[in-house]
Amino acid sequence: MKRKNLTLNPYRSNPENCPKTILTTGGAGFIGSNFIRYELENYDDITIINLDKLTYAGNLENLKDVEQKYGLSSLNQKPKTRDLKPNLRYFFVKGDICDRKLVDSLLSGEYFKKKGVGKGTHDAGHLTLDAVINFAAESHVDRSILDASPFIDTNIKGTQTLLEAAKTHWQNPGPGTRNLVSNIFLHISTDEVYGSLGKTGEFTENSPLQPNSPYSASKAGADLLCRSYYYAYNLPVIITRSSNNYGPYQFPEKLIPLIIKNALEHKELPVYGEGLNIRDWLYVKDNCRAIDLVFRKGDIGEVYNIGGENEIENIKVVKLICKILKANSKTQNLKPKTKLIADPRGKAHDFRYALDCSKIKKNLKWKPNCVFKEGLKNTIDWYLNNQDWIKKVITGEYKQYYKKLYK
Ligand code: NAD
Ligand code: TYD
Repeated sequence: MKRKNLTLNPYRSNPENCPKTILTTGGAGFIGSNFIRYELENYDDITIINLDKLTYAGNLENLKDVEQKYGLSSLNQKPKTRDLKPNLRYFFVKGDICDRKLVDSLLSGEYFKKKGVGKGTHDAGHLTLDAVINFAAESHVDRSILDASPFIDTNIKGTQTLLEAAKTHWQNPGPGTRNLVSNIFLHISTDEVYGSLGKTGEFTENSPLQPNSPYSASKAGADLLCRSYYYAYNLPVIITRSSNNYGPYQFPEKLIPLIIKNALEHKELPVYGEGLNIRDWLYVKDNCRAIDLVFRKGDIGEVYNIGGENEIENIKVVKLICKILKANSKTQNLKPKTKLIADPRGKAHDFRYALDCSKIKKNLKWKPNCVFKEGLKNTIDWYLNNQDWIKKVITGEYKQYYKKLYK
């Protein structure tokens, strides 16, 4: 995004203005759950409200430890206590970001007023929200090719619903709300909005958006809507576009967890085409650290690329997983077999993604810390130690989807 004029994030100059109450959407998914854990562990003065529809990809198992340590049980149920206690800083709300009435009541504070949450501890007499971080999305390319409709609903319509509610309530704040210089609407976009690269080159934040799948097209739509609310209404929007994440709690439909799961279950390891497509892998904790920095110190109206600096062909990722499994005494007897299969994505299969991350490196002093081999080993260890989690998150729906795609 080009800036109209310099609008420094007010939080940068005054930490007192840092958001204290954050609405995360899609926090029961992979990146959102890692981010919520990261925030609560690193800041003791924030409260997180997590709005999630709990689709096949969202699972409260991902936040069980967070709920136990910080949670006030579900706000949809009767709260255990009426007032916020310092250690009770996480609330789950089951709902859809497309539900304008619900989103309105959260952003206006009505939701919390009705439940008496924040009474006595918040100036308004109830909890109010300083910021939105929008992780919620339909996120799998293959599913978007099978059926694009839910992608349009959640990714485009849902994002617009959040933007519209933020515009309404933040520009007409109710009495007693915190005197913030500005709120923040942080939208989690993706490198896939840029489309595909050949063997060389990198996308910068100013590269044109040329999405090739219904998933990336719907994410590009959401990304551009966020941009437009900044220009048209001065809404304090910031956007991150990251490369492929991997790590704990990723739903086993994406390449890395699917390959690990199949290997553990003695199933073939499906690789699309010749396995020559290239992705740039970013360890999820490095992404959480980057999102946190952008949230607290990023400039309003800006886009930040976040890359892992780990470009590798798919087939090499699969071989590396096999090698790590072979070196582990618990899994050395597995005999994983790779199977090249007809590419279900066809022309929509982007060949290569790569990001120029000089902006976040220079302006926010971020860089990825995790070396791919190390991150992959940690990820495999996590899946090995959490095989119950795999069983719990997989439903009949997953089995049906798997049959349909890998028939
Ligand atoms: P995920 O599929 O694991 O989780 C998505 C979450 O959103 C789930 O908890 C789901 O229940 C929830 N959700 C879906 N529709 C909803 C709705 N209508 N209302 C409320 N909640 C809803 O996704 P992820 O991998 O954690 O990705 C999070 C965000 O990051 C997405 O916006 C995605 O586009 C983006 N992103 C992901 C990657 C990646 O490699 N995973 C890379 C770049 C960007
Ligand atoms: P994925 O993890 O779905 O992420 P994205 O498509 O968003 O980059 O896929 C990563 C790469 O792995 C992509 O090039 C498609 C490929 N792939 C396979 O070869 N086999 C599989 O079973 C899956 C799910 C993906």
